[in-house]
Amino acid sequence: MAKIDPSTLAEPHALVRRAVYLQRHTALALPYLTPHKVANLILNEIELRLARTRPHSVPPYIKVEATPLCHLSCGACWHHSKAYKKTLNNKMHLTVERIARIVDPIVRELVGVSLSYSGEPLLNRELSQIVRYLHERRICTGFPTNLSVPMTPSQAEAFVTAGLDQMLISLDGACEETYLKYRIGGSFELVLQNVSKMAEAKRRLGAKRPILVWKMVVFPHNSQEIPIVRRTWRSLGFDAVEFVLDHQSAESNAIKAQANSEMVAGRKPCFWAWNTTVIGWDGGVQPCCQQVNEIQLGNAADQDIRTIWRAEPYARLRAGFARDRYGEDMHPVCRRCVGLPAKAQQSNVGGDVDYAVLVHEPESEKRPQSA
Ligand SMILES: C[S@@+](CC[C@H](N)C(=O)[O-])C[C@H]1O[C@@H](n2cnc3c(N)ncnc32)[C@H](O)[C@@H]1O
Ligand code: SF4
Repeated sequence: MAKIDPSTLAEPHALVRRAVYLQRHTALALPYLTPHKVANLILNEIELRLARTRPHSVPPYIKVEATPLCHLSCGACWHHSKAYKKTLNNKMHLTVERIARIVDPIVRELVGVSLSYSGEPLLNRELSQIVRYLHERRICTGFPTNLSVPMTPSQAEAFVTAGLDQMLISLDGACEETYLKYRIGGSFELVLQNVSKMAEAKRRLGAKRPILVWKMVVFPHNSQEIPIVRRTWRSLGFDAVEFVLDHQSAESNAIKAQANSEMVAGRKPCFWAWNTTVIGWDGGVQPCCQQVNEIQLGNAADQDIRTIWRAEPYARLRAGFARDRYGEDMHPVCRRCVGLPAKAQQSNVGGDVDYAVLVHEPESEKRPQSA
């Protein structure tokens, strides 16, 4: 199998790149910070380090799925499976009313919302209104998008006036031919036209946001185009560029394995279980994107998210990371994720601990492996 040449990804000053990356992400949320949000951020960091099972802090950042639908079929995504697409229907959209029920209980502490999990956020026609709702409550917003969706200048303007902070635009190549090797069903030209519409809308309205980021997933088939991307992103209307390894590549797996072994050796808790949470279009709460609907912790559209955050299922999940019993009572999905071998006596619904309190979907309804 062909490999990615790491020299195409490495820049001369990796530390400088990291600093720029951190600065960009911190800068994104900076205008939204209040003393209350900062206090929650600090407490959250302390409670993560202490692996407190029922934290007093709430997640500073959350992911909420705008829709699970997508019209593309990218190679490594759930949507590559026709069987998966058949499980979806056109009613599966987040609404303004539902986002209100989800975020209102934590609106004073919440710093940012990424409006994506699986699916293509732009297929949700209420998306700019959802962004507006969050922005008016001083919550930072962004989402990844394939941007390969017909867009009018007024739709582009709607995202600018709604107060969207960032769009991560998936464009995995510098020409149509390369792009289509992964983004099956997409259009390179349409993406570039939409980037230009977004950039023009910002210019017309005198807005600096949303920050338009060219996000390129790097594969062996497109890594030779990285120098072209580095030369052209500004002139095409982007504000920044970001390269990520294909999550299925050997290089990416090696990085994950190294991070896992450091995490386990240091008995470090998983940040997902304390810093963030993943909420489906219907309000269903999952701890992270690393698992595929195997752990459901409640429904934030029906129940206060604070209650779910501190209830027994979440507390049990976190208890798996307690320093003195690290891994002992860990959920099988977490063990798999951090690279610990499955326990012989553990079934998919629990081992020593009764994980039956966590509702598991039947095998047939699970989503295929995520991108
Ligand atoms: C599942 S997508 C959903 C959002 C949107 N449909 C999109 O593709 O941008 C979420 C993120 O995963 C990224 N992604 C897709 N395939 C990937 C892969 N094989 N490796 C790493 N990231 C990938 C996308 O570029 C996007 O930023
Ligand atoms: S990666 Fe994004 S664009 Fe591609 S199929 Fe999945 S959800 Fe759709």
